[in-house]
Amino acid sequence: MKYCSRSVVLLVAVMLLVCAPIAGAAPRFSLKLGHAVPEENAYHYGAVKFKELVEAKTGGEVQIDVFPNNQLGTGERDLIEGLQLGTVDVYVGSTGPMGGFEKRFLLFDFPFLFKDKKHVYSVLDGEIGRHILSLLDAKGMRGLAWMENGFRNLTNVKRSVGGVGDVKGLKIRTMENKVHMAMWRTLGVDPTPMAWSEVFTALQQGTIDGQENPIPVIYTSKLYEVQKHLTLTRHVFSPAMIVVAKAVFDSLPGEYQKIFAEAAQEAALYERGVCDKMENDFIDLLKRNGMEVTTPDLAPFQDACRSVYEEFKGELGEDAGLLDQIVAAGK
Ligand code: PAF
Repeated sequence: MKYCSRSVVLLVAVMLLVCAPIAGAAPRFSLKLGHAVPEENAYHYGAVKFKELVEAKTGGEVQIDVFPNNQLGTGERDLIEGLQLGTVDVYVGSTGPMGGFEKRFLLFDFPFLFKDKKHVYSVLDGEIGRHILSLLDAKGMRGLAWMENGFRNLTNVKRSVGGVGDVKGLKIRTMENKVHMAMWRTLGVDPTPMAWSEVFTALQQGTIDGQENPIPVIYTSKLYEVQKHLTLTRHVFSPAMIVVAKAVFDSLPGEYQKIFAEAAQEAALYERGVCDKMENDFIDLLKRNGMEVTTPDLAPFQDACRSVYEEFKGELGEDAGLLDQIVAAGK
């Protein structure tokens, strides 16, 4: 009996010794994922879904830590630069600043280009979307999947916007994107590009009058605390992406690269659903938090912005024809 229990203890001790290094083993790849918005935003849901899928499918060999709220950079341009510099491994965020890295990304920034989400996804999930994502390879990044930020809308603290004339003279923060800036300039606005991390304070201190973003961002970043008027302009659809640093992607075994691509697509579809629901549900919450919401006739805004197409089409170079293809796909 005594002999038996001693040998059991010995056996257990040996098993613990053998198993200890496995149980405590470090993952083979430990990656940092950065995004610019709070954990309540749809991006975060998409990022966490991606992390969970990759970690489960690689049996924990790849670990992804998610850093929300600009913890890895001051805004999306900075996070994208981080992908190139090696300080960020995975980026979840909008295409807004990407035109500064690859001009042809400006394709999606033309005002009033997309009619609705059906139109958006007929393009992003088709040949055009795949082509644009593939351009990132030459910039040291691997674009994995299209997520979304939603349609962008204007907010400001100064006045209710019932028509195109009401935006004249407002000082509005824009993304660091020259097509967006040109659009607002055309409408008589003073566009002020700024990293996202600085926007809330700038609104609070009154150095800018307003900003423009999709409903989920306006609500989850609590802009109702510093903005009074929301105008449903839906002037630009803001695509978002899951992007991996190319050096990181290339260092993964082939089977893991496949897992990354599949997990990104699944996480992106999930994120689109979350974002869409937030876009619908959060307008009421913004009203309940004191915002006054207007829905102006958009035709005069669209007419005024037509000149931006002629001004910037040339920037798309050999891909300029895609602009007409996208417009045609919406008819
Ligand atoms: O306005 C921006 O910079 C972007 O829309 C944001 C809020 C970082 C989300 O992509």
